[in-house]
This record gives sequence, structure tokens and C-alpha cells, in this order.
Amino acid sequence: MADQMLKKTIIAPSILSADFGKLNEEIASIEPFVEMIHLDLMDYHFVPNLTFGAVVIKGIKTKLKMDCHLMVEDPDKYLEELAKLGVYSVTVHFEACPHLHRVVSRIRELGMKAAVAINPATPVCLLKDIVPFLDMVLVMSVNPGFGGQKFISTAVTKIAELKAMKADLLVQVDGGINAESAKLCRDVGADILVAGSYIFASANRKTAINSLEF
Ligand code: DX5
Ligand code: ZN
Repeated sequence: MADQMLKKTIIAPSILSADFGKLNEEIASIEPFVEMIHLDLMDYHFVPNLTFGAVVIKGIKTKLKMDCHLMVEDPDKYLEELAKLGVYSVTVHFEACPHLHRVVSRIRELGMKAAVAINPATPVCLLKDIVPFLDMVLVMSVNPGFGGQKFISTAVTKIAELKAMKADLLVQVDGGINAESAKLCRDVGADILVAGSYIFASANRKTAINSLEF
């Protein structure tokens, strides 16, 4: 319990809310305060928005671990290129993968950490048979596709359910994270908090990051 209280949560800023006209400057502005950045790839099919792919990732200059969240219809097509670009972890959506075990195994074969994301309407119990093969689960606390949405609080129960399913499973939460929702997630054991608009729209990004950590 004491360990849990002292535990520093990992904050992964999502560059979706950064200024893409000066992306490397934006990343440099948060680089001293975090160990990971969250990259949201969207294909206009799985979600109603389009972002970027390997070409943009190739241009990113950072020492931070790159955590790629694939909101795409066919994640398989992206994996080899992401591995070549030195990506640390890849998250695919449960709802996008009929052959989830195969995709997850491929991510690990390529030397990356494997995670599965669940949308707000997808229950945790559906992950029971894939959890032994995962490094992390991503609980979506908004409907995927856009930054700046309101936190859906049922995510909190889902984080607790995942921790009960496997205590050492890393649980990440993504969407609507601010100081208040971050605390709710930390209190039930979330390990990694993804935050986009809260950090990048803030006047002082260091203070914003600190307010999510403890
Ligand atoms: C939304 C993305 C998030 C997004 C979060 O589909 O997966 O990573 O950037 O943005 P905020 O923190 O603004 O909700
Ligand atoms: Zn994301």
C-alpha cells in the first residue's frame, strides 16, 4: 500500500495536441520531464480522423520512448516499419483485430512491447485470454479519434478490474486526463497516463506534467 502511494506514475504526453508545424520543438519542450511520448496513428477508417504515419515518425528527434497507439483498421501493415523506426511499444485496438493473438505475437517478434486498447463500450472480461500475452492494456477513457474530449468515468472501474485480473499488468489510460481524472486513475493503480490537450494547452507544461504524477 505504501509502495502504491509513493509510486510515481508515468506520464506519456500525446503529441496529437502539439503544434505539428514545429513538432520537434514541441517534443523538446516536454522531453526533460517525461520518459515516453504517445503517438496516435489514425487512418480515417477505424476512427473518423486522420493523423500521421511512418514518414512523420521518422522526422521525430527524441530520446524518449515512442509509444504508438494504432487507431487503424489493419495494424499488421504498420508493424515492421514501426520496429525499424525504433518504436518502443505498440498498442492495437481489440475492436480492430479479429486475429488479435497473431498481431500481438508479431509485435513482440519484432522486438517491441505489445499492448491492446479497449474502447469505452468494450468490457475488460473480453481480454481474459489475451492478457497473458501482453505487456500492457490501454483503457480508453474517451471514444478514440480526437483530443480534448471529456473523461468517461467508467474507465476507473475497468482499470481496477484489470489490476485484479493480473496485478503486474501495466495499465495505461488515455483520454480526458487532467489533474482530477488522473487522481481517480492513480488511486486504482493506473501505471501510465496519456495526456494531450491538458499538457500542450497549458502555459507551463512542466507544472501540468507534475500535477498528473502524484
Ligand atoms: C484520442 C487519442 C488520445 C488523445 C488524448 O483518440 O488516443 O491519445 O491525444 O487527448 P486528450 O488528452 O486531449 O484527451
Ligand atoms: Zn492515444
